Amino acid sequence: MARKYHVAIVGATGAVGVELLRVMERRDFPVADLRLLASPRSAGRRLEFRGQEFLVEVLGNSSFVGIELAFFSAGSGTAR
Ligand SMILES: NC(=O)c1ccc[n+]([C@@H]2O[C@H](COP(=O)([O-])OP(=O)(O)OC[C@H]3O[C@@H](n4cnc5c(N)ncnc54)[C@H](OP(=O)(O)O)[C@@H]3O)[C@@H](O)[C@H]2O)c1
Repeated sequence: MARKYHVAIVGATGAVGVELLRVMERRDFPVADLRLLASPRSAGRRLEFRGQEFLVEVLGNSSFVGIELAFFSAGSGTAR
């Protein structure tokens, strides 16, 4: 079976982040687990991925524990 990855998206609620989610669905990207990260403004929001709802978490120091692959679409300052 193909390897799957623990993936994070920083800026998941934004225009680019939402499109990235849709592309990952369309391309059947090998996601084992998904962590959706954004600012405190989005705390409690939910986004759908492959028919499943994921709670959006606030970006913080422990956001990348266990993450193998992270995509950043929250602006260059936040990415740095
Ligand atoms: N949209 C385009 O067509 C386009 C094209 C080329 C390049 N870009 C670049 O791509 C990046 C994202 O653009 P966008 O259009 O997707 O912007 P956007 O719709 O404003 O989304 C920004 C995302 O970043 C999150 N965010 C902002 N500040 C944050 C912080 N301090 N901590 C954690 N998350 C934070 C936002 O969370 P909240 O929802 O919680 O605020 C949201 O998820 C920008 O650098 C932009 O210049 C965009």
